[in-house]
Amino acid sequence: MPAACVIGLQWGDEAKGKLVDLLAPQHDHVVRYQGGANAGHTVVDGDEVYKLHHLPSGILHSSVQNYITPGVVIEPTTLIQELDQLQQRGVRPRENLIISQRAHLVMPWHLLEDQAMRDEAVQGESIGTTLRGIGPCYRDKVGRNFAVRAIDLVQDDLPQRIETIVQAKRTYLAALSGRSELAEQLNAQEITRTALKWGEQLGPLLGDTTHLLLDALDAGQQLLMEGAQGSLLDIDHGTFPFVTSSNSSGVGISSGSGVPSKWIQRVLGVAKAYSTRVGGGPFPTELHDDVGDKIRKLGNEFGTTTGRPRRCGWFDAVAVRYTARLSGISGLALMMMDVLSHLEEIQVCVGYEVDGQRVDRFPCDAGTLRDAKPIYETHQGWMHDVSNARSMDDLPPLALAYLKRVSELVGVPVEVVSVGPDREQTIFAA
Ligand code: GDP
Ligand code: IMO
Ligand code: MG
Repeated sequence: MPAACVIGLQWGDEAKGKLVDLLAPQHDHVVRYQGGANAGHTVVDGDEVYKLHHLPSGILHSSVQNYITPGVVIEPTTLIQELDQLQQRGVRPRENLIISQRAHLVMPWHLLEDQAMRDEAVQGESIGTTLRGIGPCYRDKVGRNFAVRAIDLVQDDLPQRIETIVQAKRTYLAALSGRSELAEQLNAQEITRTALKWGEQLGPLLGDTTHLLLDALDAGQQLLMEGAQGSLLDIDHGTFPFVTSSNSSGVGISSGSGVPSKWIQRVLGVAKAYSTRVGGGPFPTELHDDVGDKIRKLGNEFGTTTGRPRRCGWFDAVAVRYTARLSGISGLALMMMDVLSHLEEIQVCVGYEVDGQRVDRFPCDAGTLRDAKPIYETHQGWMHDVSNARSMDDLPPLALAYLKRVSELVGVPVEVVSVGPDREQTIFAA
């Protein structure tokens, strides 16, 4: 199994971090290949809780080499903070991390651009980004002229590059926001001083991850690819424009990491036993009632990166069937089964009604999805605490029936069931 992958199948926060940390020791290398500090991946190690934004979730295992590859956008101040905080807690992340020289950097102007656009509505609603400068940075990457990459931090022309970009960005920001204050926050000399410090800190960690990973594969070593966000937030295949700016479904693995698809053999799709979403955009099974509040409370559904309350709703089998196919999923990991233990009735969306017609395929535009009415199938809740279950035999028959039905609807076998945040609260189906 040269390369295994963990991919979110919903709108992010499916508990990818827990799964990657758990699977990491069976691999030689763990790879973060897209997204940036918009991600918040939680790893629980006994009493310690780690919230990782850039760092791959294999970082706690000293025997595993971790990589940040070209498709990731790095906000250096946040990354350095993450490294320092882990160091203070006794982890040595600088010893098993390599950062691609090709990765693009989120610069101070990108944060201001994200801020300036925060309340702008598209299709009547704001995207509600994480304000981590993700969209503006990827925009400049594609545009090329104003991009700054990790390798630029250790090159002599850095001050000139920053000077040129700051001049253009000041004009752009003033026009974008209609206010000059934002633009005035950009000072080329100050940014250059900061960037040179970033270079001192991050320079020793830079390497050519593309060659290193290809060499590892040729040598028969095992890779674990860690997706960020979820497939429904994919820039090309998600609920556009309410998406992130990278390919967060399985289609982004090769482009972000440089690992050709011929090596990818196992793709584990991660989904919650219900649905959540943070930020704007259509969400057909969203609950606006006490049940939604109960799920939020029981699942502690508040953003890992921004602390925002997550919107909660029922499992949407139309959406997950679509993303399981799109992401090439070979097995399903169904998380947060413990959260549903306290509900008398559980609904699963098995189709949508659009303009009076039944639809079984996930619509391609946000407007249609906003108008789609979910068609539900009702399941009796198991009303039994499953957080101590350690094998499929420990689960009540109604919980097993729920898993079986979800697997049938999605079209993929359930390989992993999670019943709590701890590593041991995980069941691997035989
Ligand atoms: P990620 O972004 O996909 O890595 O997910 P997050 O870390 O943002 O959110 C998942 C949250 O659920 C974290 O707080 C995890 O500690 C927690 N978690 C993981 N698995 C389970 C589970 O099976 N049950 C419960 N109750 N919490 C879980
Ligand atoms: P992990 O990896 C959940 C959402 C934001 C917003 C949209 C665009 O922890 O699952 P962006 O800042 O990327 O431009 O925001 O995407 N979003 C996430 N939602 N989990 C994430 O990451 C997310 N990363 C971005 O809330 O709706
Ligand atoms: Mg998260």
